Amino acid sequence: MIIEVEELSKSYGEIKALDGVSFTVEEGEIFGLLGPNGAGKTTLIEILCGLRRLDKGGATVQGYDLIKDTYKVRGVIGFCPQETLLYDLLTVRENLAFSASLYSLSSKKFKERLESSSKVLGIGEFLNRKAQHLSGGMKRRANLAASIVHDPAIVILDEPTVGFDPNMKREFWHFIRELKKEEKTVLLSTHDMYEADELCDRVAIMHKGKIAALDKPTVLKEKIGGQATVHIRVRSDQAQKTRALLKEYHFVAKDKEINIPAKDAWQTMHEISNKLISHGIFTEKIEIVEPTLEDVFIKLTGSRLTGSEVS
Ligand SMILES: Nc1ncnc2c1ncn2[C@@H]1O[C@H](COP(=O)(O)OP(=O)(O)O)[C@@H](O)[C@H]1O
Ligand SMILES: [Mg+2]
Repeated sequence: MIIEVEELSKSYGEIKALDGVSFTVEEGEIFGLLGPNGAGKTTLIEILCGLRRLDKGGATVQGYDLIKDTYKVRGVIGFCPQETLLYDLLTVRENLAFSASLYSLSSKKFKERLESSSKVLGIGEFLNRKAQHLSGGMKRRANLAASIVHDPAIVILDEPTVGFDPNMKREFWHFIRELKKEEKTVLLSTHDMYEADELCDRVAIMHKGKIAALDKPTVLKEKIGGQATVHIRVRSDQAQKTRALLKEYHFVAKDKEINIPAKDAWQTMHEISNKLISHGIFTEKIEIVEPTLEDVFIKLTGSRLTGSEVS
C-alpha cells in the first residue's frame, strides 16, 4: 500500500467536510475519488498533500506519516491542482525550470525530466512557447509536467479535466495512462462518472464527507448498479401492440420507448427481438443499457452526481 488513510475527519465550523474516511491505494494503480461538488474531494486531497490540516485520524504516504513527516510526504507527491499555476509570460521550459528550482533539482536531473515529460506528456512540441499562448489542453499538460518535475512516485490530480470537451478529456486520459505505464501511482478526483469508469482501476464513491462504496468500476456496477435493461423503441402506431406482446415481462414503458430489466440481457434481447419480428413489429431501436456509475451513485445516495435529487 502506497497510501493508507485512516478515519480521517475534518470540519469547517459546523460543516463536516470529511467524516471518518478510510481507504488504501495500491502502488501503480489509478485510484479515483468520485463525488459531486461538496463531497469532500478537494479537502481530502489537500490534506494528503500537506496543504490543509486534519482534525482527526491520520494517513501514511509511502510509509511516511502525514503529520510527523509532512515534508517527506510532499517530496513523494506531485500535486496538480485544478487551476493551472503557470506563469503566462514564461515559456513552458522556463516554467518547468522554475518548478525544478523549488525542488533544488540538478541541471542534469532537470534535463532528464524535460526529456521524460516530453515523451510521456507530449510537451516537447511547445516547450518554447509562452504559457499564455497555449491551448487549454496544452496548459493542463504543462501544468501536470510542472507538478511532477521532481519525479514523484505519486501523482495527485484534483478534477483534472473539468471544462474539457469529450475529445480533450480523452486526450488527457491518454496522458494519465502514460503516467501509469511509467509506474506512477495516480490518485485523482472527478465528478465525471465516465472518467472514473474509463480511467480508474478502483473508485471510491464519496458523498457528504464519507466513502459510500469502494471497488473496481465493473464490480460497483454489477453489485450495486442493478440489472441491465433491454431498451426498445418502436413505431408509435405499433406501441400498443408491442406492449401487449411483452406483457409477461416486467417492463417500464413511456410512449414508444420500452425498458425491460433483465438478468440475462443478451438472451432476453434475442427472445424479444424474435417475438416482435414474428408478429410483424420492427423496432426502430433495440439495445442493452448497462448500469453506469451514476446508477451506482443514485442507488447509494438517492441523489445524482450533479447533486440534484432523483425524482
Ligand atoms: N475553506 C473552507 N471553508 C469552509 N468550508 C469549506 C472550505 N473548503 C471546503 N468547505 C466545505 O467543505 C465541504 C467539502 O468541500 P470540498 O472538499 O471542496 O468538496 P469537493 O472538492 O468534493 O467539491 C463543502 O461543504 C464545502 O463548502
Ligand atoms: Mg473540489
